[in-house]
Amino acid sequence: MKHIPRKLMILLALAASGLAQPVSALTAADTLKQLEQSAKQTDPTFKGVSAQRGEQLFKTTHGAEWSCASCHTENPAAPGKHAKTGKVIAPLAPAANAERFTRQDKVEKWFRRNCNDVLNRACTASEQGDVLAYLMTIKN
Ligand code: HEC
Repeated sequence: MKHIPRKLMILLALAASGLAQPVSALTAADTLKQLEQSAKQTDPTFKGVSAQRGEQLFKTTHGAEWSCASCHTENPAAPGKHAKTGKVIAPLAPAANAERFTRQDKVEKWFRRNCNDVLNRACTASEQGDVLAYLMTIKN
């Protein structure tokens, strides 16, 4: 077979690049489902996420200097600014930033780091679910 039609080549290339993508392409809604699932498994008293609790967690301090809003601002649909370095942070609300909560490794890494900074401990799965539920109520 000497001549592979160009169209077929393009299709093959697309298929190959599709296979090279990480399998776990999530949406923010998928991530919320996963958090709810793991909250159910780890907390027998879990009764569902609450955007209201999430907003409260996000906007208040918890004994340390910073709240989540210190860097992500009171309006997570807007760009944030790192409270220490001044570096601009892309918006956290999925409506304003389609990449948010689509990569499990990134979500886990930053929840771990930021909850430690703000609450001096890890956030539970149900707290993470509350925060994401809150962020998903925000319209761009
Ligand atoms: C000291 C500044 C700072 C504080 C305080 C902070 N964050 Fe962040 N946050 C960042 C930075 C920097 C990133 C990574 C850069 C980026 O993703 O744009 C980030 C990323 C994230 C992400 C990654 C989301 C994704 O999928 O891309 C989540 C979730 C998050 N923060 C949640 C929180 C929560 C919840 C709090 C409060 C408990 C909080 N942050 C407090 C600076 C902060």
